[in-house]
Amino acid sequence: MQKALGFLLFIHLLFIFSFSSLSIALTKVQVDTVSRRRRLTLRQTDPLPDDFKLEVDPNLIFPNPRLKKAYCAFQEWKKVIYSDPQNVTGDWVGPDVCSYTGVFCSSALDDPQTETVYSIDLNFGDIAGHLVPHLGLLTDLGILHIHSNRFYGIFPKSFSNLMLLFELDASDNRFVGPFPSVVLGIPSLKFLDIRYNEFEGALPPELFDKELDAIVVNNNRFHSRLPQNMGNSPASMLVLSNNKFSGCIPKSFGHMPYLEQGLLSNNLLAGCLPEEVGMLQTMTLFDVSNNNIVGPLPKSLEMLKMVKRLDISFNLLTGKVRDSVCSLPALSNFTISNNFFNEIGAECEKISEEENIILDVKDNCLPLKPDQKPDNICLPMLSRPMVNCKTVGCGPRYSPNIVVPRHRKIPRRKPKPPPPVLPPMHKKTPPKPTPVPQPPKITPPPTPKVSPAA
Ligand SMILES: *[C@@H]1O[C@H](CO)[C@@H](O)[C@H](O)[C@H]1NC(C)=O
Ligand SMILES: *[C@@H]1O[C@H](CO)[C@@H](O)[C@H](O)[C@H]1NC(C)=O
Repeated sequence: MQKALGFLLFIHLLFIFSFSSLSIALTKVQVDTVSRRRRLTLRQTDPLPDDFKLEVDPNLIFPNPRLKKAYCAFQEWKKVIYSDPQNVTGDWVGPDVCSYTGVFCSSALDDPQTETVYSIDLNFGDIAGHLVPHLGLLTDLGILHIHSNRFYGIFPKSFSNLMLLFELDASDNRFVGPFPSVVLGIPSLKFLDIRYNEFEGALPPELFDKELDAIVVNNNRFHSRLPQNMGNSPASMLVLSNNKFSGCIPKSFGHMPYLEQGLLSNNLLAGCLPEEVGMLQTMTLFDVSNNNIVGPLPKSLEMLKMVKRLDISFNLLTGKVRDSVCSLPALSNFTISNNFFNEIGAECEKISEEENIILDVKDNCLPLKPDQKPDNICLPMLSRPMVNCKTVGCGPRYSPNIVVPRHRKIPRRKPKPPPPVLPPMHKKTPPKPTPVPQPPKITPPPTPKVSPAA
């Protein structure tokens, strides 16, 4: 017993001794090394710690502490820019941050006397580098546009400090990894555009619980089923095209209250179109082309009173295209080509003769129409019982021996339309403190369409 106590005491003394000698031994050099190492890690993915110290030349004079922080953020960012062929960041020198190319200042929302960085616009910069955690110091940032650059890696966690950011366009870069969940923690975000990157995996359901007006994630490598809570999203624009989303289109999709543009083309979506699609009363553009959708068209499609463009081509749809769909009041472009429809209403015949309405019916199984699929492809399909949408499920295809149409070839990368129009940079006039400014409505990104190679 005493032996044991003595041993414990020994250990205790040893501990105290080594601890005190350690604290003595930590020289200034070592402290510096540790803190430098910490800063190095910081450069990668860590959020900014609260005690983060700005290392700024004391001779530089800044109009206010926020611009000093901004200076620090831009200098740190510049350090990890490895290629800047247009010399965009060449003038990111000195304390006048507001004069830097691509940087726009405005009065702070909470303090009209204080100039702060309100917007960054490096669109089409062709810059290679990555994003630094120090960008989280730009706490007054409302707009971040870095479309068409070569930024790689992931979004820093410190993005969650960007309390006022409402528009984030990081499209056409080289970002990778799972969906950048840090954006879910940006409270004011309204417009999220991360198309043309290499994000993969699933979309988090929380994305559809956020007050986003635009969710643009096309041309990535997302592959998963779509979340069941899509209907919670107030988005007017949802672009999921050119990924590998699979499974059914959730019924909840039809409950999106403000959806105007729903682009789901070029995925692996299966099952029937849910009846709930007809509830999308504000929808003007609906594109589910190039998927594996089966069954008859839901009757509810006739309720899409605002729909102008309806593209259901390159699927496995069967049955009749009803007059009630063809005579939708706003319809101007209706593409049903490359399906297995075998009947089409008389009204549809009529509209296709009218000048202002485009109706593309080719490559179906429509009797007496030109350019239809051959009998040896149509007959096996038409001799089956009609797909029962209640039982067909969400599997990749209706039956193993179904004829899957050749999908249109999708170009790997294609030029994009101009990015969303920048709202005016309020250089002089301060933006209104509340409510959070709405992002501009943008034209839909194109769904790359290439006719199948002959
Ligand atoms: C880049 O821009 C800076 C400032 O505008 C200029 O001083 C520098 O010479 C430029 N570099 C090149 C390579 O053009
Ligand atoms: C009609 O829609 C098809 C398919 O969505 C598209 O390829 C075509 O460009 C559209 N035509 C017009 C004139 O908008």
